[in-house]
Amino acid sequence: MSHININYSSGGIARWLDGFRDKWDDFYPSERWAFDKIASLNNTFGKVLDVGCGMGGLGLALSIRHALKGYQGIDINAQVIAGAQKNKGRFKIPVKFQCGDILKIRGLKKGAYDTVFSLSCADWNIETKAIIGRCWQYVKPGGFFVISLRLSDGPGINNIKKSFQPIAWDARGKPAEVANYVVFNAREFFRMIEAFKPRASHVYGYGYWGPPSRTAVTPYKKLAFSVLIIQKAAPGAKEAISAQLNFPLDLITEAAYD
Ligand SMILES: C[S@@+](CC[C@H](N)C(=O)[O-])C[C@H]1O[C@@H](n2cnc3c(N)ncnc32)[C@H](O)[C@@H]1O
Repeated sequence: MSHININYSSGGIARWLDGFRDKWDDFYPSERWAFDKIASLNNTFGKVLDVGCGMGGLGLALSIRHALKGYQGIDINAQVIAGAQKNKGRFKIPVKFQCGDILKIRGLKKGAYDTVFSLSCADWNIETKAIIGRCWQYVKPGGFFVISLRLSDGPGINNIKKSFQPIAWDARGKPAEVANYVVFNAREFFRMIEAFKPRASHVYGYGYWGPPSRTAVTPYKKLAFSVLIIQKAAPGAKEAISAQLNFPLDLITEAAYD
């Protein structure tokens, strides 16, 4: 199957991530909430797969506060992976980085990771749903998939011509690289989780309204910046998916009615 993801390659992302997103306080409140929630549910993050890992800062920030058995990062951008390789000496746990599109990379074992992350990754590229589906395959039964995403009470969008964010600029001040700026309708996203195979058992979420990023070109005036933790059911479990959601109520109620 051919994929049409953007093959990010500029040094802009590596420059942005150099010395950033590698400390606890560099992460958003919704992300920190998710990290502490997992620690409270499981004590350890176990074997971690970070999809769109950048320079591996998440692994560094997490291991300062929480227990991890190992950290593996995948990123499509060779320049950030070069930076991540340089960061390897800062880790006190087994660590591995690979460059490639998560939809094309070979050799990762399905159902082998206790915690899989997509922080600003799936909704930054074109094949968002396929990336989400692939991340889910790598989660162990009983393990967690943590995803940050932008939710709306109105229609979602995955159209880089209408909703995008320049992320690197050339010498003449023109965008050298442009990221997709994907938004999901909240109800559509929860339905997608309900249809996951293998099935989910629990969903935990935290999000809040805010304006889109200043550099984004997008039709939205406000978005719910959200992080969801989706737990994979144990084999044979049949009970309904339970949800603990800490979202603005209008995100849920407005998105629930057409
Ligand atoms: C906004 S950065 C976020 C980096 C890091 N996750 C963080 O939250 O600090 C998005 C990263 O995802 C990577 N990425 C985008 N699409 C990808 C894909 N299909 N496979 C692997 N990495 C991808 C980009 O190259 C970029 O480094």
